[in-house]
Order: sequence, then C-alpha cells, then structure tokens
Amino acid sequence: MKCVDDFRLMLGKQELVPIMIGGMGVDISTAELALEAARLGGIGHISDAMITSVSDRRFNTSFVKDKLQRFRAYIGNPDKSAVKFDLGEIIEATKLHVGKTMEAKRGAGMVFVNCMEKLTMNAPRETLKVRLEAALDAGIDGITLAAGLHLASFGLIENHPRFRDAKLGIIVSSLRALQLFLRKSLRTNRLPDYVVVEGPLAGGHLGFGMDWAQFDLATIVGEIRSWLQAEKLMIPLIAAGGIFTGSDALAFIEKGADGVQVATRFTVAQESGLPDEVKQEYFKANEEDIEVNLISTTGYPMRMLKACPAVGSGVRPNCEGLGFLLDGNGKCSYLDSYYRELAAQPEGAKLSVKDKTCLCTQMRNFDCWTCGHTTYRLKDTSRKLADGSYQVLSAEHIFRDYQFSKDDKIALPE
Ligand SMILES: Cc1cc2nc3c(=O)[nH]c(=O)nc-3n(C[C@H](O)[C@H](O)[C@H](O)COP(=O)(O)O)c2cc1C
Repeated sequence: MKCVDDFRLMLGKQELVPIMIGGMGVDISTAELALEAARLGGIGHISDAMITSVSDRRFNTSFVKDKLQRFRAYIGNPDKSAVKFDLGEIIEATKLHVGKTMEAKRGAGMVFVNCMEKLTMNAPRETLKVRLEAALDAGIDGITLAAGLHLASFGLIENHPRFRDAKLGIIVSSLRALQLFLRKSLRTNRLPDYVVVEGPLAGGHLGFGMDWAQFDLATIVGEIRSWLQAEKLMIPLIAAGGIFTGSDALAFIEKGADGVQVATRFTVAQESGLPDEVKQEYFKANEEDIEVNLISTTGYPMRMLKACPAVGSGVRPNCEGLGFLLDGNGKCSYLDSYYRELAAQPEGAKLSVKDKTCLCTQMRNFDCWTCGHTTYRLKDTSRKLADGSYQVLSAEHIFRDYQFSKDDKIALPE
C-alpha cells in the first residue's frame, strides 16, 4: 500500500516532499512552524499579514506604537483616509520577519510567504508592491498570493531581479479564477510555479460565497487538472482544504494533484502561534461549534469557532496603529458598523457589534479563532491528559503522519 512519501513534488529542479503547510495569518504559521516543514523536506509558509505587528512581537520593534503616535488625532474620527502606512516601515518589518526566518532555514525544503492581498492597507497597490519586493529582497524561497488575488500582482514585481528565480504561486478556488489570473499575467511571460486549489472546507477566508457547501474540492481539482492538461500547461497543482489524513492526501495525489496544502492539523502544533489555551479550544471543538460567517471585513466568508471573542465584540477600531483592512479610500466595513452601533447605544450599555468584527484587533490578539472544517476531528489526533486537556503535538509528528500514514490511520503522540 502506498503513502504520500512514495511521491515527490517537483518545483523546477527542486524535489520536495509533497506536503505544504499553508500560511496562517496572523503569525499562527510562525517561522518555527515553517522552518520545521522545510527541515523535513516539504514547504512551510510564514505570513506577511499584519507584518508590523508581527515584527513588534517577534523582534521588539515599535512599528504599531509609532504609527499610533502619528495618527492619534484620528481616534474617534470615522474618517481614516489620512491614516497611511509608512512604506519604509513595511519594508523594514518584512525584511526582519523574512530575513531572520531564512537565516534559520535548514534542510532540503523551502519556506514561502503567504501574501494576503486583501490587506489593502489604505494604499493597495503601493503597499502590496513593497511587501512583495521586500520579501524577495530578504531571500524568501517563494511567494503564495492569496485571498483577494490581485490580478496584476506579477506585473508589480516583474522588474525585480528575483522575479524569475523565486517560486511564485497563487491560490484559487475555481477554474475561472485561474483563467483570469493567467490571462492577466500573460504579458509578464511568466506562469505561476504552482497553483494551490483551495476547496470549501479550508480555514481562514473562503474563495466561495455562503453557498460554499455546494462545492467540492475533488471536483474543482479535477476540472483544473483537465484544463491544464488540455492547454498543455505544466503547472504543479496543490490541493487544499479538508485533507486530514495521509490517506486523504494520497487520494488527491493519486488522482493527479502534485501535492497537498494542509493547515488545520498544525493549528495545535507546539510551533503554532496560537496561545496554548486557544489550542485547547480547537481540540475541544465539536462540529456544531464551527461556523462560516460574514463578520470578516474583507467581504469574504470566514470559518471560525462560534464561541471566539471576535464574534459580537464591540471593540473600538484600532486603525491608527493597525489599519490593515482599510481600503484605498480609508474605509473598512467595521468602521460603519461600529459607529452605527455607537450612535444607537443607550448610555452605559456595553457595545456589541454583530455584523462585522475589527479583524485587525481580533487577529492581533488571537481572538478570531479561524479554523478549518475538520477542526472537530483534532481531538482524535492526540491524547487526553489527566487534567482533561489535550497533549499538544510537535509539527514533526503531524508532518510525518501525513507523509507516512496509511489506511486512514492517525498516529497518536508517544
Ligand atoms: C487558522 C488558519 C488560518 C489561515 N489563514 C490563512 C491566511 O492567512 N492566508 C491564506 O491564504 N490561507 C489561510 N488559511 C488557509 C490555509 O492556508 C490552508 O490552505 C487550508 O486551511 C487548508 O485546509 P485545512 O486547514 O483543512 O488543512 C488558514 C487556515 C487556518 C486553519
């Protein structure tokens, strides 16, 4: 009987274990987690989401505090159009996060950065360009363009000296999205080096509407595989979303995927950035505790644990220090919801905003517990300890379980 380890993912000349740990913002897929995947011969992702905040936590910089100082006067003002990022600070933070990670890299695998393009940062084009270029400057092996795929992204970096040597990939959830991207980037004469096809059971934001349950990853992978073959496009295809065991991964690879991207099982790894008590919430979750809702200000549906503090929170917007979701005109749907509720709030009552959440604040505080559909199965991957908590697993244990397990088995930790 075969297992995932019988296959290899070829990215150009590089031969890899066909397991990619997906990007999980904001610093849930930490450098430590990504570095483990690379050490074991696969691909790990760090994320550049909310990069200044991540740099402050990781390197003791003060980017968020400094920005807050500059724009303090806008607290309480719903018009945030003047609250801009300093591009130099984004570059510095990216170079620190990416550079220090790459310095620590060991092993035959690769480390990529997940770039959520929906972080429009009150100047979508300019900020995206410097994020991508700074990551390339800092030596990242590759970039995965995600959420809110900016069709012109390749064009933004086509003059960078590493444009043709770094691995560049995209995440799509439909053949149509892939076709649109390829058409738009034709001019740069460069195909993506890989395409992650993400189905409706994934964690984070979904590339589907609220009718996500009507879609199925295997069908979408099949459609894209056939189209790529018909067009004679040799782009490795990575399947993602709901792949929980080595056997699930093998099934996709045997049907023509070149590899898999997985994330949910690693949310409870020692190396995951989630605080320990939040990891226990993920372990304990049952299927009915998970929902797909529309409270993310990106406009995309997002899957999360219903009980997380982000749902119904009425926190004051923190655009002055953070502001990653401000669109090109300084707007964010949470601002509208927050000020609407504030105006309607009776004196002294606790403010609760139900339709949107302040994604920046909640993600920074690890209070938005986004997760994949299979989170309710995490309890089956570990052991319950005497105090009722679950044993946290090493990333190596989970990675090797995907790589070597057969027969739908999940190896429990020692
Ligand atoms: C906690 C969590 C956070 C995520 N954050 C991001 C993200 O910031 N950007 C992104 O492109 N995908 C994100 N994802 C999606 C994963 O990278 C991955 O493609 C998907 O979850 C794989 O499915 P699985 O979780 O069922 O294994 C996230 C997933 C999880 C579980």
